[in-house]
Amino acid sequence: MVKEVNVWDYAGHIMETIGSGILLTTAYQDKVNTMTIGWGQLGVVWSKPVFSVLVRESRYTKEFLDKTGEFTVNIPLAKVDKNIIALCGTKSGRELDKFQALNLTAVPGQSVSVPGIRELPLTLECKVIYRQDQDPKAIEKTCFDRFYAAGTHNEGDYHTVYYGEITKAYIIEE
Ligand SMILES: Cc1cc2nc3c(=O)[nH]c(=O)nc-3n(C[C@H](O)[C@H](O)[C@H](O)COP(=O)(O)O)c2cc1C
Repeated sequence: MVKEVNVWDYAGHIMETIGSGILLTTAYQDKVNTMTIGWGQLGVVWSKPVFSVLVRESRYTKEFLDKTGEFTVNIPLAKVDKNIIALCGTKSGRELDKFQALNLTAVPGQSVSVPGIRELPLTLECKVIYRQDQDPKAIEKTCFDRFYAAGTHNEGDYHTVYYGEITKAYIIEE
């Protein structure tokens, strides 16, 4: 069962929580995959409520996102099992079924073909309305040096920004 919510009532909570890691889920055909994200923005674009995510080129998640243009974001409302954030932030869906490994409960999406996750119950369903590859030349130098430069473990692994229109927001209840 889910309880619909007004996403703006949770804006502070979402932005306070994202730094510790929340989940971005994608699905394609019969496969579902989730990964930890620590960056993102909640806001308004073209008069629509939007959640934007930044996904590096190397992520399996990017393959699904580019195919379907749909994702969900799941945010904990209470303490979350740190193993979930750690494993989903270090293992790729290419090598591991993270839902199975962590025994995560997928709850079917309502406006998108991507499930939410009961263990992190605040769910945003999103449809991509804009995407843009980063222009390396436009990145401020200290950010470039820290996150993309030669010698870092993410050298040249740029992000694509996806603006997801929030089509539903709800809490998954037991
Ligand atoms: C706290 C934390 C935050 C992260 N934030 C992001 C992010 O915002 N964007 C990104 O592309 N990767 C981020 N990652 C890395 C991905 O979660 C990680 O590479 C994951 O294994 C990718 O899974 P996939 O290949 O199944 O898509 C983060 C990892 C951690 C631990």
